[in-house]
Amino acid sequence: MKIAGRPYRTIWPRADGAIEVIDQTRLPHEFVTEVLTSADDCARVIKTMVVRGAPLIGAAAAYGVAFAMRTDASDAALQAAILMLGATRPTAVNLHWALRRMEQHLAPLSPAARAAAAWAEAAAICDEDVEVCRRIGEHGFACLKTAAAKKATGPLNILTHCNAGWLATVDWGTALAPIYMAHDAGLAVHVWVDETRPRNQGASLTAYELGAHGVPHTIIADNAGGHLMQHGRVDLCIVGTDRVTRNGDVANKIGTYLKALAAKDNDVPFYVALPSSTIDWQLASGRDIPIEERSAEELLQMSGRLSTGEIVRVAIAAPGSPGANPAFDVTPSRFISAFITERGVCAASEEGLKSLFPQESE
Ligand code: MRU
Repeated sequence: MKIAGRPYRTIWPRADGAIEVIDQTRLPHEFVTEVLTSADDCARVIKTMVVRGAPLIGAAAAYGVAFAMRTDASDAALQAAILMLGATRPTAVNLHWALRRMEQHLAPLSPAARAAAAWAEAAAICDEDVEVCRRIGEHGFACLKTAAAKKATGPLNILTHCNAGWLATVDWGTALAPIYMAHDAGLAVHVWVDETRPRNQGASLTAYELGAHGVPHTIIADNAGGHLMQHGRVDLCIVGTDRVTRNGDVANKIGTYLKALAAKDNDVPFYVALPSSTIDWQLASGRDIPIEERSAEELLQMSGRLSTGEIVRVAIAAPGSPGANPAFDVTPSRFISAFITERGVCAASEEGLKSLFPQESE
């Protein structure tokens, strides 16, 4: 997607052998990139959320393995890199999907062949992610067209939570890809952007992306969605996900579950957009998904830009009060209208997933 007219991916290889990423902790106030030169760098940017979003975490981890293979391509170094990178964030399964793919590709090769092969495989993971997201966009766009055809007047009002746009993937995004395609094709859309406390990925990243692409949108407090749905001001919801279990339960950014509950109560379709790399066939249900607990500081403090341009961090809570910060929640499959994947749209159930991905489920 484009920033100030220049096309970007979120992660790209440089001619000098390094990797460059967009620093998402500085958005929307500053567009800054960071150059990565080691597996440790890749692990650090995933942990600190310089890069975030399930598919992008996987892509960054793949490059982490590629860097590790440049230094030491032994079996032991491969396993150590996979272990180190796999411990960076617990909920997004794309991380483990990418690491497993790197391992399966590299382990059978001789150590001498691994560095070049690892680099090529990480690049392939990125290229495939772009294509997969583009296809999610096409399938999702068909859903949006159908929904729009049922409306007499006005734009299609879509609610989204967190950031599942191009910044969360290599390009296009998952939940936002259909919206970009609809907008580009001239379908009138308007996006309600949940601010997504405590880190505000909605207000700072989704709104930034949509604004840069010219998509009409409005930032709302996380708690406003239910009210808007009761008043007929949301036509459908689309969110991304960090892990889908075999039965169709979905882990996504904290607060997603409450939106799905409100959508059910108000007969608002609730779609989840996902690449197949987000399906965890090993886990039977959402109860088994590890939920990341992050620092309470993210809740008790906030950063923002002063009118002078200075970016500051301020305390917002009663001094001394403790905070708890579970970063994801699980939406049971019964609240999900359908999945939008790279292979098409299916029911949020084991049967639905298997109908599109029969081989992968074995
Ligand atoms: O903690 P984050 O910002 O990595 O969480 C991201 C999300 O919850 C996204 O909705 C999810 O990764 C889907 S990204 C296409």
